Amino acid sequence: MSRVSASPTLKVLLEAEKLRRQGVDVVDFGAGEPDFPTPEHAKAEAVRAIDENFTKYTPAAGITELKQAIAARYRADYGVAFADSEIIATAGGKQALYNVAMVLYERGDEVITHAPYWPTIVEQIKLADATPVVVHTRAEEGFTVHPEAIIEAITPRTKAIVINSPCNPTGAVSSEEQIAAIVDAAARRGIWIVLDLCYEKLIYDPVPHNLPKLLTDRMRDRTILACSASKTYSMTGWRCGWTIAPPAVIAACNALQSHSTSNVASISQRAALAALTGPQEPVRTMLDEYRKRRDSLHAWLTADPRIECTKPAGAFYLFPRITRLLSPGGIRTSAEFAQALLDDVRVAVTAGEGFDAPGYLRISYATSMERLREGADRLMNFVRRLEQTGKAVTAS
Ligand SMILES: Cc1ncc(COP(=O)(O)O)c(C=O)c1O
Repeated sequence: MSRVSASPTLKVLLEAEKLRRQGVDVVDFGAGEPDFPTPEHAKAEAVRAIDENFTKYTPAAGITELKQAIAARYRADYGVAFADSEIIATAGGKQALYNVAMVLYERGDEVITHAPYWPTIVEQIKLADATPVVVHTRAEEGFTVHPEAIIEAITPRTKAIVINSPCNPTGAVSSEEQIAAIVDAAARRGIWIVLDLCYEKLIYDPVPHNLPKLLTDRMRDRTILACSASKTYSMTGWRCGWTIAPPAVIAACNALQSHSTSNVASISQRAALAALTGPQEPVRTMLDEYRKRRDSLHAWLTADPRIECTKPAGAFYLFPRITRLLSPGGIRTSAEFAQALLDDVRVAVTAGEGFDAPGYLRISYATSMERLREGADRLMNFVRRLEQTGKAVTAS
């Protein structure tokens, strides 16, 4: 445990929440979760589950109906068929990845992933006593994964490569060509690919991104998909995700889960089932709204050339570089910047340090347009004040 750190993204939330409880008006750009309500039909199904006393243990891997609904969704969306034995319902995408880390990685293994990363990916590798090997993506390439860089990091000890697309914190959507090159290299060497698809439905343009098919066509026996209802259906608190993997991996995850958390809450399973099988309109509505917010916030912030930010292709985060606002005599790091922003103008953002990307900020736009406008104004005022007090260079 001494090698593992607590989630920095949750820390920001906690601090902002503490201030809010004291009555302070905080604009929260720290949230890693949708601000929309869970779709009505999912909520109604949960109420029905309670009324029907569907409130007991279920099989640890989840009810058959849910596994079949997951399979049907992926068949419809990606044209890939999965059997019940290839699916386990988990307490969110986090446990979907955690189980895999525990059953697959061990001491001596190297597991490659890409930064800026969602910190849990790396901490879980460490929890399994394996060694994370981090390959940095570049802002100039929109933070997409560069196959050559990943392939170069492969050694005889490489057990798996974890890819997250769309990516938290950058919003990057790597191309099918990029992923295919990595998958082909992994297939030749017997390396597992773990794909974190938590934001799979949050892609703004109709770019080809059928990663489940791409992977299963190439190396089904070493493909693992870690997925979640959290962001797609605005169900973060229900804790329902799923792992799709070869039956032996699922059996191992089931054994682990049966001795740890056991089944996802029965009521949540019914809600997720309804979300997956019911109308998908809410998903499109949320995506359309996120797109508007992304475009507006991006325009407001990048009006200042010192805030450098490519427009993300997916997820709901902007990930600007703010190094031109930092100086040895003023605010020196993005962590200091985030703290000063919260202290001075009550805007909560997550500093890039937590994602192995110092010099950047993660700004979540999973909040209303009105709050985005307010937060952007406050941030710009903060920057102007830095400039006036000589703590930041002028924009020109
Ligand atoms: C990249 C990524 N993967 C997985 C998850 C897991 O989310 P959950 O456990 O709520 O499904 C998150 C949540 O923030 C995430 O950002």
